[in-house]
Amino acid sequence: NAVPADAKNLRVKLVLLGDSGVGKSCIVLRFVRGQFDATSKVTVGASFLSQTIALQDSTTVKFEIWDTAGQERYSALAPLYYRGAGVAVIVYDITSPESFKKAQYWVKELQKHGSPDIVMALVGNKADLHEKREVPTEDGIELAEKNGMFFIETSAKTADNINQLFEELMSRLV
Ligand code: GTP
Ligand code: MG
Repeated sequence: NAVPADAKNLRVKLVLLGDSGVGKSCIVLRFVRGQFDATSKVTVGASFLSQTIALQDSTTVKFEIWDTAGQERYSALAPLYYRGAGVAVIVYDITSPESFKKAQYWVKELQKHGSPDIVMALVGNKADLHEKREVPTEDGIELAEKNGMFFIETSAKTADNINQLFEELMSRLV
C-alpha cells in the first residue's frame, strides 16, 4: 500500500452559486452520484457533498462542494460559503435571462470579495432545453472571457458536459 513518491493529493473547496432553480443541486447530484432528480427540492441554506477524482499519474483532487441556496432570502449567507473557496462555479439556466443577470451579479461579488486566486467557471445549465433557449451561447462566452472564467454549457438531465466541467476545473488546479 505504498503511496507513490510523486503522489499528489489535493483538496479544494468548491462553491456553487446561482439563481434558485438553475440546477446547482442537480449538477452536484449528477457529478457525485450519477443521478438526476426531476423533482429536486430547493436547497435550504446550503448542502455539502464531496467527490474525489483521480488522474492517471495518481494525482487526486478532492472537491469539497458547497451547494448554496439560490433563493434571495439566503443571499446573505453566501460569503460563508465562498470565503476561502478555491473554485467558484456560477450557474445560470440557458432558458432564463434573469438567471443570467444573477450570474453577472455573482461574478462581480466574487471579484470584490472572493480570494484573488480563485478559479471561476461560468456554467449555462439545462442545455437539453435548446428549443426554449433564451440566453445565446455567445453571451456566456463573452461574460466568461471578460472575467477570465472557464465557460461550459451543461445538462444535469442528460449528463452532457458534467464530468468535463469538473475535469477542466481539476486541470486548472494541478
Ligand atoms: P436552489 O436550491 O433553490 O438554489 O435551486 P437549484 O439551482 O439547486 O436547482 P435544482 O438543482 O434543484 O433544479 C431545479 C429544477 O430544474 C428541478 O426541477 C430539476 O429537475 C431541473 N433541472 C436541473 N437541471 C436540469 C437540466 O439540466 N435540464 C432540465 N431539463 N432540467 C433541469
Ligand atoms: Mg439547490
